[in-house]
Amino acid sequence: MNQPQSWEARAEEYSLYGFTDMPSVHQRGTVVITHGEGPYIVDVHGRRYLDANSGLWNMVAGFDHKGMIEAAKAQYERFPGYHSFFGRMSDQTVMLSEKLVEVSPFATGKVFYTNSGSEANDTMVKILWFLHAAEGKPQRRKILTRWNAYHGVTAVSASMTGKPYNSVFGLPLPGFIHLTCPHYWRFGEAGETEEQFVQRLARELDETIAREGADTIAGFFAEPVMGAGGVIPPAKGYFQAILPILRKYDIPMISDEVICGFGRTGNTWGAQTYDYTPDAIISSKNLTAGFFPMGAVILGGELAKRVQAAVEAIEEFPHGFTASGHPVGCAIALKAIDVVMNEGLAENVKRLAPRFEEGLQRLAQKPNIGEYRGVGFMWALEAVKDKATKTPFDGALSVSERIANTCTDLGLICRPLGQSVVLCPPFIMTEGQMDEMFEKLEKALDKVFAEVA
Ligand SMILES: Cc1ncc(COP(=O)(O)O)c(C=O)c1O
Repeated sequence: MNQPQSWEARAEEYSLYGFTDMPSVHQRGTVVITHGEGPYIVDVHGRRYLDANSGLWNMVAGFDHKGMIEAAKAQYERFPGYHSFFGRMSDQTVMLSEKLVEVSPFATGKVFYTNSGSEANDTMVKILWFLHAAEGKPQRRKILTRWNAYHGVTAVSASMTGKPYNSVFGLPLPGFIHLTCPHYWRFGEAGETEEQFVQRLARELDETIAREGADTIAGFFAEPVMGAGGVIPPAKGYFQAILPILRKYDIPMISDEVICGFGRTGNTWGAQTYDYTPDAIISSKNLTAGFFPMGAVILGGELAKRVQAAVEAIEEFPHGFTASGHPVGCAIALKAIDVVMNEGLAENVKRLAPRFEEGLQRLAQKPNIGEYRGVGFMWALEAVKDKATKTPFDGALSVSERIANTCTDLGLICRPLGQSVVLCPPFIMTEGQMDEMFEKLEKALDKVFAEVA
């Protein structure tokens, strides 16, 4: 066989790419990465890029954190792999579950492990279906989420994800209901105040539950800040308006903290930042600072008690993954939680968030930036053709792709999402690196807007 020679050609020849704009790859080639240094990644040609996306939101301690690597090595030497079935589990798994409940918003609780955020959401849906059936309500199977939500890619979590691209798979599955995205700037109607917008969304939820029948609904899932939807913080008062409605109908509220959890919004949980208490939490990504694939369902005490009673009734919960509660993953997660909470990373997010916002506020003065939005260390700038009318650019111009590609050429990784550019750097980012990020981003914005505006 004729072997292609370059790293880029070899990558394209043998890899099926996910979530990748293929025309861009064909034209520009793949960035093949060898290693990382702090918040930078380095490619096969020795080029360095400041990764303002922390990999995929998750590498919050950077790409070469020595303590994390040591923790992984030590656990590989001690006990390199095991499962959590049949009444056996590793000591690290026991310790991590204790720690997760300790740092959760719940006084008591129980943890179930997966390999990813998608699987954790799938698992949570199965827990709810299992629970309602055990409690004599097997018809309680419908799941409520929102348009623009991102909950993952497995068949169930993709059905929860509110993105039109899932239609290529014939998804969502029946019974997954998407409510209005709580993005006031984009979806608020003419003359509608933010408070009225929130009231409209609360009414929509109430009417949807009434229409579908409360007794057919298994649960409501929401990210505190929608991440892959384009970094969309909730409209003011959103969770305070919808939670009483869910409580009224006894519908469990699940906070998908895969991105927001462990410091991204400036607090341990996004639910804290937006002042609500869910019934369960979905965690992944930052949970291991990206050093191991792992997800976790953290059930709050009350839900945990009901689920445990349902399990006891049939003697087992027939669910689990080979690597659920993997000892190396658990050791890494214990270290990651310690690093984020006790090595100044969470503090750094809090300390630099106002500086982050100032930088974006300045860039948002540009005539083609419609909105900057975010919190903590997760932000987006949305490009518009016309600022006053919020008219987007023609999609064919691929404005955000062009901005991100220009950034890449300048040695900065950021992510195009719709017409927005997303910035979610590692928590170790310094002031100097933040300046570098803004300097490169501004150059890219000016170049691209000069071409398309
Ligand atoms: C909020 C949220 N939930 C779930 C997921 C899915 O996680 P994974 O990619 O690990 O399956 C993601 C991934 O980005 C996410 O952002």
